[in-house]
Amino acid sequence: METKYQAALIGCGGISYRHARAYLEHGNVEIVAACDINEENLNKVCEEFNIQAGYSDHESLLNAHDIDLVSICTYPKAHAEQTIASAKAGAKAVLCEKPMCLGLGDADDMIDTCRESDTKLVIAHRHRQNPNFTKARELIEEGAIGEPRLIWCYLTSAIIDNGTHIVDMMRYLLGDPEADWVMGHASRQRDTLYQSSPAEESGAGLIAFETGTRALIEMGELTPQDGFNFCILGTEGSLQTTIEGVDWFDKNGANEFRAEPNQGFVEQTREMISWVEGGPEPRNPGEKGRSVTELLMAIHESARSGSLVKLPLEIRGYPMKDRAGSG
Ligand SMILES: NC(=O)c1ccc[n+]([C@@H]2O[C@H](COP(=O)([O-])OP(=O)(O)OC[C@H]3O[C@@H](n4cnc5c(N)ncnc54)[C@H](O)[C@@H]3O)[C@@H](O)[C@H]2O)c1
Repeated sequence: METKYQAALIGCGGISYRHARAYLEHGNVEIVAACDINEENLNKVCEEFNIQAGYSDHESLLNAHDIDLVSICTYPKAHAEQTIASAKAGAKAVLCEKPMCLGLGDADDMIDTCRESDTKLVIAHRHRQNPNFTKARELIEEGAIGEPRLIWCYLTSAIIDNGTHIVDMMRYLLGDPEADWVMGHASRQRDTLYQSSPAEESGAGLIAFETGTRALIEMGELTPQDGFNFCILGTEGSLQTTIEGVDWFDKNGANEFRAEPNQGFVEQTREMISWVEGGPEPRNPGEKGRSVTELLMAIHESARSGSLVKLPLEIRGYPMKDRAGSG
């Protein structure tokens, strides 16, 4: 059978292998080109996946091929420019790694350009495709714990690193509500970077969702342990969910649910290609990534200004960049 879609990898580090395997598992995709500023990483990926064309910059790649599906697997500060270039070059879909970008202005430019170019934009918030988190979302929606009032999660990484997964998953579990206001803290005492963008050593956020649910986030080196562990307190029970399963207490006592955590990368690729073919919007489209970007930037803006930040957010950039200056 002739392969239908031509794919390209922009960025050939660790995560690009997961994207490449997902394309191959789909079966109807050929990875025809890759690019990386690091020649060694580029050559390794090309060899591993038998990719015939390698480039040191994305413009050369996009000029030389008609690519249908583009995976953006580079550092966060390059995501917006490379997504926009891919859409303008005629890609049918772009799967952009998290964080979507570093600022609401970039998020809007990505969404607008993709809309104008008829390019489907997906952000790799692939935990949405985990059946345990989907079960937790359904339980909350069905009222298994009454009205959710508090959701809490912690991780040892930076706000623009896995903070994006936390905020995205909180929104997913709660049915994707928007927020009224945010308070944040981000402590940067050293020249800490996440993939060459300034980041904090420790951070925290309090989000007031429009539904009345409050979210608490603890990030960075003050966090005692790692865990993608969401605790939700409701008016009639409580629920805890991780990648591995769901445990909840309702009026009947303790309950549990365990599903094999499927491969989010494979499933998000399948949903993206189905969207290109006229199927439903995937669980992680660009607009939902924009809502996450707004909350992450609001946490940073609150930390910068020392005050509560009301939404919708007005600032367009990355407040930590202004704070860090050249350091
Ligand atoms: N979805 C997930 O669960 C998940 C997991 C890990 C990483 N990520 C994200 O994936 C992205 C990459 O992370 P990684 O772990 O693969 O990092 P990495 O350092 O292993 O790889 C990044 C690659 O991008 C290349 N690169 C950087 N800027 C470039 C540019 N302008 N043009 C071309 N190539 C460029 C680097 O040389 C490197 O080879 C990040 O945004 C990260 O947050 C997502």
